[in-house]
This record gives sequence, structure tokens and C-alpha cells, in this order.
Amino acid sequence: DGTTIDDLIDLKMNEVSLRVMNDPELHRFEMERIFARTWLLLGHDTEIPKPGDFVVRDMGEDQVIVARSRDGGIHVSLNVCPHRGMKVCTAEAGNTQVHRCIYHGWAFRPDGDFIGAPIEKEQMHGNKRTKSELGLKKARVHLYGGLIFATWNIEGPSFDEFLGDSKFYFDQLFCRTDSGLELLGPPQRFMIPANWKIGSEQSASDGFHTLTLHRSLMEGGVMGGTPESIYDNAPGMYGVDVSCTEGHSLRCLEAAQTFKMFSNVSFEGKTTEERLHLLPPPGITPELIPQLFKNLSPEQVDMLATIPPQVGGMFPNVLVLFIFAPRTDGGSSGALALHTYIPRGPDHFEFVNYIFAEKDAPEQVKRDMLQNSIQQAGTSGIIEQDDADTWPQIMRNTKGPMSRSITLKYQALHGHEKPEGWPGGGLLYPGFTKDDTQWNWWLNYHRLMSAS
Ligand code: FES
Repeated sequence: DGTTIDDLIDLKMNEVSLRVMNDPELHRFEMERIFARTWLLLGHDTEIPKPGDFVVRDMGEDQVIVARSRDGGIHVSLNVCPHRGMKVCTAEAGNTQVHRCIYHGWAFRPDGDFIGAPIEKEQMHGNKRTKSELGLKKARVHLYGGLIFATWNIEGPSFDEFLGDSKFYFDQLFCRTDSGLELLGPPQRFMIPANWKIGSEQSASDGFHTLTLHRSLMEGGVMGGTPESIYDNAPGMYGVDVSCTEGHSLRCLEAAQTFKMFSNVSFEGKTTEERLHLLPPPGITPELIPQLFKNLSPEQVDMLATIPPQVGGMFPNVLVLFIFAPRTDGGSSGALALHTYIPRGPDHFEFVNYIFAEKDAPEQVKRDMLQNSIQQAGTSGIIEQDDADTWPQIMRNTKGPMSRSITLKYQALHGHEKPEGWPGGGLLYPGFTKDDTQWNWWLNYHRLMSAS
């Protein structure tokens, strides 16, 4: 309607119009300029271990088939039949070597190639196209620690370029052991009546909301702080916020400082290995510790042992949670979960919760990781039910003409400051949590939405 992205995002005042959270035209542009161009998380390779295994997932509003072919490769193809536009695959998951469209019977391999049609002589009459031109539209695929990413931007930045400086940090969670991660069961899924950006910009390491919205974590004695004075005494709010120009972000926090149950742990004079044994990162058992040194750099292992990334986001729509929690045998197993916020029109998104453990971890640790992830970050988890209540109420406020004129204020901006001896790159914000990482998320959104 003539409104530009600069009318909606005020780069000088660091403000965003509430209107961006509910606008059909803007939503269409987001699908084209963001979801059709960036790398998107679609699942994990342990979901489809055998040739022919497939799951159906979403790249923005486009549905895709994620399938393993006979040669073991993973392929992502648009779930739209090139004949008349029917969904080729109507199941959510399964195993087949032939995806046959139920409308007129055209058939495709797991890699998206066209096989043939049932009455081939008649249906292929005309010879205007070869069989190789009749396959499903294919996305570019990259596996990162077994996580399946894909993009329609075939000639665009590589996945490593997309991760940028955040790779140093994300490697510590996803690429640290020999056998890698295992997805524990199919992802949990539920619909939220809110725009995808409400969840996603919060994922860009919004620390302040933890203190207020999730204060039950302090009141219940999980995180440090006291029920009487959570704002004055909030050790979990101190750390180093990290973000990179690609819009990803992480909050690196000392576990002993963040969680009450570890408050008597002291790292004084301890080596990296001793610290890993004293307070193992979630999912890491003593037997797996040597693998950390093999797969990560000494700086990465030291950070994982001391001040690991505990929460963050991958642009555009992924939340990363790496949570410490007590294990049933007295150790620490914690939780490792990823959420994706899949757009379903401008006013809904589908919340997908992937739960992980190390493939080589003992079964009991996997069970604990599953239980912790569900209890904390699942559909009824103590963390996510707070957010699932708040996001729709923000959405409710996007409808009135006065409410739509309100701007969101990014107030707590302090600027980049590298702590002495910090081994990782990116834009760094040490001390009490800030708004910088969230504002950087909007800067990347603005950059992509402004691109021709
Ligand atoms: Fe798929 Fe016709 S629409 S075969």
C-alpha cells in the first residue's frame, strides 16, 4: 500500500511498528525475501535413517518432502506435483521408493526425479519436455551435525557463510561427539495464534523476559535469585550475549552462576577437563568427555566447560535451548531442544519442538534428556506455557488502529564490547542482559526485506 520497510522499522530510533506482526502483504514479502532465500532447519538425519524414509516439513509456507535416497543422500523437494499442483505426498512420514501423486498418478523418486506416468504413451504425448524436466523442484541441502538445512537460494551463501561467527558457538552444541546427536522421537507440534516473528525475535536472546515472564524459575528455586527480590539478585542475567550480522544470537552463561543447584560448585584452579567432570554440560557423560577434545578446538571445549551457550536463536525462526538439570543418579543431564516457528499465515505459527541427546549416551541419560526437555521446553513445559500465553495476547493487540500505530522500543542498547581473552567472534555484549541481540535480529530482517 506504499508503506516501505523503513516506515515500519525506524533504524534511527530503534523502533519497530507493531503492525509488522499482522500484515498479509508483508507476510507475502517475508515468504519471498526471507523464507525462499535463507537456510531453514527441517529436521535431523536420524529421523530418516533408511533409504526411502521421508518426513514432510515446511520451508515457510512451502511444504517439502525430506527423503533419503538409495545411495544414502538426503534430498528436499517441493511437495507440489508439476502436473496440476496436487500434493505429491499426503502422509507426514513413512518409507517409499516411489512417491505417487494420487490425482493422475505421476511418480517421483525420493530425490525428486520424475519416474513416469501410468498411461505414459498418452500422458507424455507431445514431447515438449524431457523426463528430466518433469521432476519436483529441488532445494539445496546441507547437513550440520546431522541437522538438515535447506534453501531455495541455489547460488546464494554457503551454509558456513550463513552461520558466520556463530559457528564457533553452535559447534559446541551440535558437532562435539564422534557419533553426533540423535533426535528423541518425532517432534512435538502445536499451533500458536500469533505471528512467527513474535517468537523468533524473542529467540534472539531476550534475557529480560526470563526474569519477569519466567520468574517461576527463580521462585521455584531452579535458577539463581530469590522469590522476594528476583530483580536485585539475578545471577542468571549476567554473562555474554553474542550475535552475528546474519541475525543469529546466543547467551553464554556460567552454569554455576545461573542455577541454584550448582551454586556450591567452584572452578577455581581447575583445568578444563576437571571442570567438565565437576559440572558436565547437558548430555555429556564422563565417557564422552575425550570426544569433546577430539571434535572441538581447545577454546571451544574450554567455553563449553565454563560459560557455555545456553539459549539463542538461528535466524530466521529457530530457538536453541541447552538447559542444565539434575540427573536421576545425581549428575547433570539437562536438555537440548530446538524449536522452529513455522509461519501459517500472518496470524498463526506452528511451534515444532525437536529434542536431542548424544547418540552414544546411555539410555538412562537419553530418557532424562527427553523428560527434562518435555518438562521445561515442551508444549506444557514450565517455560513454554508462559510464552504460549503471552504471544497470542501481543497478537490480539495488532488488530486495532490505535494499537497498530504503537512502536516496539529497543531501549537497552549498549554496543559491542569484547571481553578480554574472549575466544569467539561476533558482536559481543558482556554483563547484564541487553536488547542488542534482538535489535541485530531486526537489522538482519530489515536487510533481507530491503534486498532487491
Ligand atoms: Fe499430480 Fe496430476 S496433479 S499427477
